[in-house]
Amino acid sequence: MSNSDHQTIKVLGPASLSNLGPGFDTLGLCLKGVGDTIEARFSSTPGISITSSAKIPTKPEENTAGCASHLVMTKAGDKRGIHLKIKKGIPIGSGIGGSAASASAGAWATNLLLGKPFKKEELTYAVLEAERLASGGVLHGDNALPSLFGGLILTSPVNPLDYRRVNLSEDLHIAIVLPKQSILTADARTILPSAINRTDAIHNASDLVFMLHALVTGNYEAVAPYMMRDRIVEPARASLVPHYQDIREAGLEAGACAVALTGSGPAMFGISKDFKSTSKILDAMVAAAGEGAKGIITMADMDGVKEIESL
Ligand code: HSE
Repeated sequence: MSNSDHQTIKVLGPASLSNLGPGFDTLGLCLKGVGDTIEARFSSTPGISITSSAKIPTKPEENTAGCASHLVMTKAGDKRGIHLKIKKGIPIGSGIGGSAASASAGAWATNLLLGKPFKKEELTYAVLEAERLASGGVLHGDNALPSLFGGLILTSPVNPLDYRRVNLSEDLHIAIVLPKQSILTADARTILPSAINRTDAIHNASDLVFMLHALVTGNYEAVAPYMMRDRIVEPARASLVPHYQDIREAGLEAGACAVALTGSGPAMFGISKDFKSTSKILDAMVAAAGEGAKGIITMADMDGVKEIESL
């Protein structure tokens, strides 16, 4: 049953880490309590209308939340207008999945407004298509799917609808540094090597499987070196982050199990098994990241997008 024409639904679309070192376009992890918030309601204005205090496109066909919402309405065969009020909790171009967070929040808020006709599994197409807007037309699910489902997501770049969701059995604490600059994913994809040699491919494949084993068994102390010696993507992007090497060293010295770039950066994260050392790791990474850097302390999240309050 659909919600009343006057109800407002409020949803948090979580931020996410992607790539995690050797897992380019194939691995992503949902983050707890950090994300974009969307308030959705039916509107007498036809189609999808968007307002936001952030500097983001508000035409629905240029906005990931608007695109996802439109696809859910089309799937439901419902022609009513929807209004989305977007609060960006994730800085634009930061590397922690802001476009995907808005996509999952837009899709889920619309679904709830319609009375929840669809399960999350039925919304994967909508969030993936919406995320395409932010990555120069490429379909990749390593931010959109973690934001939708929570947990650690393994996704296929060949067919992102082919994915697996993995629960982490042990708490994973995460310190994230957000350097001052912003990097657009579409731009950061153009600098990647178009061909790689066999040795690098073999090393990366090996590191990915060993890293996954360490993550899913909760053996976080064993995650480095596998997460930290990507030979293909991270070296090409490291030059986009002025203090990349300093941040890595500072995080490790402060006790992080591993430090890596997330997505196209410039954000970098350090992981830890215990909450107590996370603020020390964060302070060290922020101090190394230069003027204007900010930090976030969070954890892996197993729930994904969710309603936070109905007004
Ligand atoms: N896997 C994508 C990339 C994530 O690294 O380009 C973008 O956030």
